[in-house]
Amino acid sequence: MAKFDVAVIGAGAAGMMCAATAAQRGKRVVLIDHAGKLAEKIRISGGGRCNFTNINTTPANFLSENPHFCKSALSRYTPADFVALVKKHRIGYHEKHRGQLFCTESAELIIEMLKDECAAGDVHWRMPCKIASVEHTDGVYVLETDTGTIEADALVIATGGLSIPKIGATDFSYRIASQFGLRMVEPRPALVPLTFDPQAWAPFAELSGIALEVEVATGSLKGRNPTGARFREDLLFTHRGLSGPAILQISSYWIPGTPIVIDLLPGIDVAATLIEGKGTIKKQLGNVLAQWLPTRLAEGLLLAHGFALDARLADMQDAKLRELGAAINQWTLSPNGSEGYRKAEVTRGGIDTRDLSQQTMMATKVPGLYFIGEAVDVTGWLGGYNFQWAWASGVAAGQAV
Ligand code: FDA
Repeated sequence: MAKFDVAVIGAGAAGMMCAATAAQRGKRVVLIDHAGKLAEKIRISGGGRCNFTNINTTPANFLSENPHFCKSALSRYTPADFVALVKKHRIGYHEKHRGQLFCTESAELIIEMLKDECAAGDVHWRMPCKIASVEHTDGVYVLETDTGTIEADALVIATGGLSIPKIGATDFSYRIASQFGLRMVEPRPALVPLTFDPQAWAPFAELSGIALEVEVATGSLKGRNPTGARFREDLLFTHRGLSGPAILQISSYWIPGTPIVIDLLPGIDVAATLIEGKGTIKKQLGNVLAQWLPTRLAEGLLLAHGFALDARLADMQDAKLRELGAAINQWTLSPNGSEGYRKAEVTRGGIDTRDLSQQTMMATKVPGLYFIGEAVDVTGWLGGYNFQWAWASGVAAGQAV
C-alpha cells in the first residue's frame, strides 16, 4: 500500500498541470492514468502543433449551465501565465488566427514541458494503471488498482470527457461523480461535424471538399442569457454533412431538433443585388452567382432549389430572386445529428458546477474530492480555450489540495 497527500487520476492536460502545481507546493502526489501512451489528446491537438491557449480568452468563450463558474479560475491563471511557462521552457510558438497560439515545432514539446514540471515537484507516476474501485473511508481515499492499493488525503479526477474513445476517453469522472452524489449536466458531443438525412443531403453530398467563409447561427440570440450563438468562420462541405470551424463552433450550441441558419454570402444582400442588376446584367444566373461563390456550389444551390442553370437573370421574377436570396443568405437546415464522440473535439456538459467550488474545484459536499478539466460542465469554443480551461482549473485545484 502506498500513501500520498494527493492522487490525481488522468494524466492529460488538466491532470499534469494540477499534479505539477500541487507537487511544487511540497505535496506528495501520485499521477495515475490507464493509457499506455501519455497525453494523446495534447499530441494530436491543433494538427500536431497544439493550440495551447488563446490570448483573447474571456469567460464569454465558454458554455456552461453556470456561465459565471469559470471566471475565478480563468482570472487567476491566465493565457499570459501559460505563455510565461512556455517561454521558460524555450518552446517556440506563434499566433495563427484570432489569438490562437500554436507550437511552432510540435505538440510533443508541451507534453515534455508538463512532464518536466511534474518532475520538478517529484510527482510519482502510475501508468498504465487501471482503477478497480474508489472508496472514501475515515477521511482517506482508497484506490484499488492493478498496481496495488493507493491511499490519498485528496483525490483529483481529471479523466476528461467522452470524445475520441479510441485514444482512451472513458466515463470514469461521471461514474465517480455519481458514486459521490454529485449532479450531472447531460454530456453530448461538441465541436463536432453535423450530419443530415442522407436523402435530403444527396444534392449537396457531391459538393464535398468545398470550403468558404460563412456566418452561421442557431438558437435565440436575444435577452440577457442568449441560448444561441453566431459565428463567422470557414465552412466545409462533407459527404455526410457540414464541418469546418464555423460548424464545429455552432455544434456546441446546436440543440437536436432545431435548425441552423447559414449565410453563405455574409455582407451581400443577394436578393436586392440580383433584383437591382436585372436591368444591366445580361448573364445567366449560374454565372452571376459564380462571381461570389465557388462555381460547383453556385450550380448545386440553383439545382437544389429548382432553378435552371441557364436561366437568365433578366428573365427572372423578383419573387423567385427573393426566394434564391433567402436560400443563400438564410439557408435553414435541420441536422439529423452529429458525427458523435468519434469525431467530437470535446464533450459539452459533465459534472454540474453547482456541486463544485469555483475557487478550488472541490466538491462542495465531499471534502477532498476535486474535478477539473473537460470532466466539468465548462466547454470552450474552438481556438485554444479548452486547454486554457484545463490549465486554469488544474492550477486552481493544485493550489487548493
Ligand atoms: P484529457 O482528455 O486531456 O485527459 C484525460 C486523461 O484521463 C487521459 O490521459 C486519459 O487516458 C485518462 N483517463 C480517461 N479515463 C481514465 C480511466 N478510467 N482511468 C485512468 N485514466 C483515465 N483544445 C484546445 O484548446 N486546443 C486544441 O488545439 C485542441 N485540439 C484538439 C484536437 C482533437 C482531435 C481533440 C479530440 C481535442 C482537442 N482539443 C483542443 C480539446 C482538448 O484536447 C481537451 O479539451 C483537453 O485535452 C481536456 O483536458 P483534460 O485533461 O480534461 O482531459
